[in-house]
Amino acid sequence: MQKLFLIIISLMLVWSCQNNSEVYKTHKHLIADTAMVVSANPFASKIGVQIMKQGGNAIDALVATNFALAVVYPRAGNLGGGGFMIIRTPKGEATALDFRETAPAQAHKNLYLDSQGNVIPGLSRNGGLAVGVPGTVAGLYAAWQKYGRLKKWSDLLAPAIRLAEEGFPVSEAEAHRLNKYKKDFLKWNPTNKTFIKDHWLAGDYLVQPELAKTLKIIATKGPKGFYEGAVAQAIVDKVTKSGGIMKIEDLKNYCAKFREPIVVPYKDYQVISMPPPSSGGIALGQLLKIVSRYPLKKWGFHTYKTTHLMVEAEKRVYADRAKYLGDSDFYPVPIDSLLSEAYLTRRMADFRMDKATPSKAIFPGDFKLHKESFETTHISIVDPDKMAVSCTTTLNSNYGSKVIVDDYGFFLNNEMDDFSAKPGVPNQFGLIGAEANAIAPHKRMLSSMTPSIVTKNDHVFMVLGTPGGSTIITSVFQTILNVVDFDMNMYEAVQAKRFHHQFLPDYIMYEKKAFTPEVIKQLKQAGHHLKQVKSIGYVKAILLSNGHLEGAGDTRNQDDDVEGY
Ligand code: GLY
Repeated sequence: MQKLFLIIISLMLVWSCQNNSEVYKTHKHLIADTAMVVSANPFASKIGVQIMKQGGNAIDALVATNFALAVVYPRAGNLGGGGFMIIRTPKGEATALDFRETAPAQAHKNLYLDSQGNVIPGLSRNGGLAVGVPGTVAGLYAAWQKYGRLKKWSDLLAPAIRLAEEGFPVSEAEAHRLNKYKKDFLKWNPTNKTFIKDHWLAGDYLVQPELAKTLKIIATKGPKGFYEGAVAQAIVDKVTKSGGIMKIEDLKNYCAKFREPIVVPYKDYQVISMPPPSSGGIALGQLLKIVSRYPLKKWGFHTYKTTHLMVEAEKRVYADRAKYLGDSDFYPVPIDSLLSEAYLTRRMADFRMDKATPSKAIFPGDFKLHKESFETTHISIVDPDKMAVSCTTTLNSNYGSKVIVDDYGFFLNNEMDDFSAKPGVPNQFGLIGAEANAIAPHKRMLSSMTPSIVTKNDHVFMVLGTPGGSTIITSVFQTILNVVDFDMNMYEAVQAKRFHHQFLPDYIMYEKKAFTPEVIKQLKQAGHHLKQVKSIGYVKAILLSNGHLEGAGDTRNQDDDVEGY
């Protein structure tokens, strides 16, 4: 009898896995003629495409895909987080939209310090005090109001509502993470039954009635349904109960902001990317401008010379990030100076081709990286009129602060960790900061998110971005070079091995097989330190060439999916 029972259970497991592998059959590489969505989950990508087939444009698709990710990709897709997007209209107008979280009004510079002035470990990463005022709902609404084509806002939430209400089978990767963080979920949300169960298996249904309720409220009332009334009160109550300081006025006063994007020429291309409070556009612009002075194509992909130059540029650019970058509404970020040719010439004046410059000679400091995984997510979309949108959104860590607004079914971010808690003390990505990124009421924390659109001859050429914390900037940088300088197609450029240097810690992070043994030897001989890591970034990108759209999801992320037609 027992044997029979075991056989039945095994058969059910096999059936559920096979069934799930059908659902999660993703495209990592696709060529299409009309429109395309690349996201971190096949349910979400398909919804984006469906919206465009119904007459929606790239922004309508983006909004629907984002709300779907909040359901099917809860570790990073979100209502309780924030992000950035770069939009380019068919007429060529480019805009940046900032829906980054803000510090609550009661936040202050020393929020995470003890009486001795030392950073209290974990306080900016876990629990209520880690939570910034969420921006996602306001951001998506602002984008739709200004650029959306479909008339009914609620139509964009309908697919996500259905997924939340009816449930969907979780992927292997999501099941793994839900299990991994169970202890943290229990700590902050001991009675939550939606996300916490004995053990998640791939194919188990995640049904989210509370989230469906919230999405319906937002569908009916717009952002007011989130930033005012019962949902807002529930956010404040949960944050307060979890040790935080957010007040109802913080939510009511939140607004997304349209900003001038950073536009930097690179060879025959224009690279459009995110201005502060993201460091992405400035850092990417500095890197591209520096390497444009050298014959990368001649030197070759991941040779000693190319790698050494890129690493030395990265050290200097990340040192600048630490000192000069923060929310430009609060701190005078010297954008023009940082991107000026004269400054970059001076910045690279001590660069030697045969020798690494130790980071200590650029800026002092030393520390260890925190082990939290880097989870954010990105969506790239091109619509039939060649309107393009590149959007990166995040809760910061996996499932953010791990604090769930239980009755409304969503996680809250831990974005406060992206502030500099104390000058020179690293955040979870090992990034340090200074006065420019100090905490202040209503201020936005510095980000590395780098949603980008590259144009050529006034046409969209590439749409790309990635999660990966501090490595976002260098992953986008490398992907652009892979196409422009190393003649790769989009798929090859996304799958190519990556490396990263962020000034501190002073080592080159690299993926297995990123370099030949000979190049590793040469880098070490020049004085570089190296550390192999499992993987860097999950780039999602679309290339427009020869009248086709070539989409690439990252094979590093099991669930990345390109859909198009
Ligand atoms: N939370 C990661 C970033 O914004 O860079």
